Parts: sequence; structure tokens; C-alpha cells
Amino acid sequence: MQQEKTLSIIKPDAVAKCVIGEINRRFEQEGLRIVAAKMTRLTKKQAEDFYGIHKDRPFFNALVSFMSSGPVMLQVLEGPNAVALNRQIMGATNPKEAAIGTIRADFAESIDHNAVHGSDSLDNAKQEISFFFTPEEVVTYVKNTELA
Ligand code: CMP
Repeated sequence: MQQEKTLSIIKPDAVAKCVIGEINRRFEQEGLRIVAAKMTRLTKKQAEDFYGIHKDRPFFNALVSFMSSGPVMLQVLEGPNAVALNRQIMGATNPKEAAIGTIRADFAESIDHNAVHGSDSLDNAKQEISFFFTPEEVVTYVKNTELA
């Protein structure tokens, strides 16, 4: 199956709930490897630029304000069909519509505070990864199935 990389953001609400470990457990259990990670607090400008595609949407200001309100965990996830797989593990954008057992169903309060972000296509994944990470910050390894 096609190995892909995708960008994941554990958002300020999920960081504040102290569920980073549980979220990453789910990624790893489903076959995604964390190949880059950075904990930071986005500036307003970074959040505006990252979500620039939504700048004309009514929720843009609230989104920028929320995403720069506290620390986030930025990660690159790698694995088979990583873009679609990550979106499946996250669940629908609106937690009210997210399937049972998904991250958003379990940890998100609302569409505005929805715990995680994940790239929605391979092209966007490449752009989003390069927005936050240099190529040198992304590592390579394979799962050691003898130890797991
Ligand atoms: P995310 O996957 O990070 O991408 C953009 C974010 O905007 C989305 O998650 C939601 O948290 C937020 N948002 C708020 N309202 C909407 C909406 N009506 N449609 C899509 N995204 C929304």
C-alpha cells in the first residue's frame, strides 16, 4: 500500500485535556508512525497563514484566535494511505457527526474546538508539512515488528 505523509495538529483544547498520549496511541495502533513532532504555540500570523484558505469564511477569526490560544502539537504521520487513514481516525470535522470511537467523537466539544487537524489531500499534506517542518526535521524509520 502507498506510504504517505500527512500533517497532524493536536489542537489547544486536546493539549489542555492532556490527551496527547491517548491520541498518539491511536495513531500508532492504527499503523501511523510519528516521523516529526514539535510542540509550540502558534502566533496569530502563523494561524492566519496556515488557514489562509478559509480567510473569507465566517469562522476564520474564531479559528485563528482558538489556534493561537495555547500550545499545539505539530506532527508528521507516515504510513499506508496516511492522509485518508488519519482522517478516518480523527472522525468528521463536526464532532456531532463523528463516528463512534474516533478522536473527535471522544475528545472534541464542538466544530470550533475539534481536538485535531489533519491534511485533507496528499497535495495539501505536502504544503502543510513544509509550512511547519524542514526536510531535515522529518525522520525515517520502520516499525520493528519483532519488538512490538
Ligand atoms: P480543521 O480540520 O482544523 O480545518 C479548519 C477548521 O475550521 C476546522 O477544523 C474547524 O475546527 C473549523 N470550523 C469552524 N466552523 C467550520 C465549518 N462550518 N466548516 C468547516 N470548518 C469549520
